[in-house]
Amino acid sequence: MGNNSNNNQREGWSTRIGFVLAAAGSAVGLGNIWRFPYVAGVNGGAAFLLIYLVTIGLIGYPLFLNEMLLGRKTQKNPVGAFRALAPGAPWWLVGALGVLTGFVILSYYSVVAGWALHYTWRALFEGFSPAADYSAEFGSLISSPGTLLLCHLVFMILCVAVISAGVVKGIEKCVFYLMPLLLVLMVAVIVRAVTIPGAGRGIAFFLRPDWSRVTAGTFLDAIAQSFFTLSLGMGAILTYGSYLRRRESAARDALEVVAMDTGIAILAGFAIFPAVFALGFEAAQGPGLTFVTLPAVFARMAMGRAAGFVFFLVLSIAALTSGISLLEVVVAWAMDEKGLKRFRAALSSGFVIFLAGIPAILGYSGWSGVRILGMDILDSYDWLVNSVFLPLGGLLAALFTGYVWTASKAAVDCELGDPASAWIRIWGFLIRYLIPAAIILIMVSGLANKFFG
Ligand code: PHE
Repeated sequence: MGNNSNNNQREGWSTRIGFVLAAAGSAVGLGNIWRFPYVAGVNGGAAFLLIYLVTIGLIGYPLFLNEMLLGRKTQKNPVGAFRALAPGAPWWLVGALGVLTGFVILSYYSVVAGWALHYTWRALFEGFSPAADYSAEFGSLISSPGTLLLCHLVFMILCVAVISAGVVKGIEKCVFYLMPLLLVLMVAVIVRAVTIPGAGRGIAFFLRPDWSRVTAGTFLDAIAQSFFTLSLGMGAILTYGSYLRRRESAARDALEVVAMDTGIAILAGFAIFPAVFALGFEAAQGPGLTFVTLPAVFARMAMGRAAGFVFFLVLSIAALTSGISLLEVVVAWAMDEKGLKRFRAALSSGFVIFLAGIPAILGYSGWSGVRILGMDILDSYDWLVNSVFLPLGGLLAALFTGYVWTASKAAVDCELGDPASAWIRIWGFLIRYLIPAAIILIMVSGLANKFFG
């Protein structure tokens, strides 16, 4: 298949829906269920939702399509993809930055996924009690390195196991079962949440905009959230796109994935805010929303233990289908560029990433004295990724297609339709001007805020 004589062993998705589910699995993760609701909570609920929808349309979708096409055209890992389209030029460094970013994200993503695994286990075997202090409990969990190492290890083993089995037998099979299951379980949590007496106030918070909480920072949060949630700026979508065959319609596939990701984030809002408001908790309280507020909410509601178990299971599943996409970026690079066999590539990169996650765990216990730019180790990894690596990767990929490959050439190469058609021209305009300008703005203001704010 295709034009890659040196690459004829390369696997490809067995069905169109295989790619869509895998990419949706990558996109839907902790970003949708843990991050989106608390960021929306801090930024005025529905007001944030509206701004976020606009950024997804103007920035998220065009960049998603861009990264998908870069992979589909070249049928290569991020480093090989840029090298194939611009031989002899230093653009391959953009791919290398992506592989590095995948490595860094997975090292701490796996730690947070480990928290989700721990709470799933906790709900199943102990349940939640109204008398407990969940803030103290979360504090004691994150300062127990033994438990966290075990959870981090279990999560990495699951990722390595799926990736070792390959694109079709590993990734595609895993998402084929887990994505529908995730949706069904999510709906079950929502049904429970919206039927609690008093749930209406939470629904109103999420649907009625409160513009008084919107500041310049809200726009920055919306753009950063779009990058993270759509897995943009680091080559995951490029890598999954490289397993696409010629026949699929890229624009429609991208639309389906972006719609699913946005839909799940909105559903997460409906699962969380009604319960939080009905039981008298604060929606604007930040990152602790999932791990501190929700256990207290589950402790106070009928069928709370079952709801809690299902909720944290959903979170763990969503994290797994994202974790495998992160590992696949590194593995695809190690296979294509370093000639490793899949199993070896998965095992060795999984192991090194596991080690890289250990400082993020210790940052809450033995190494809590270590502060990087005033942050603990996990937060500093997260900051580096969200404020520097992802926007930079997305910016350079947009500039590459905008000015080097060009939108009209991409349209011809990937059979998107008439290169002179209005929508290709709009897409070209967005990736050449609007998106780079928006990204530079958020990077500069984010960095200025950090260093001089
Ligand atoms: N999109 C994932 C989430 O929302 C995170 C992720 C980022 C996954 C980058 C892969 C690549 O949780």
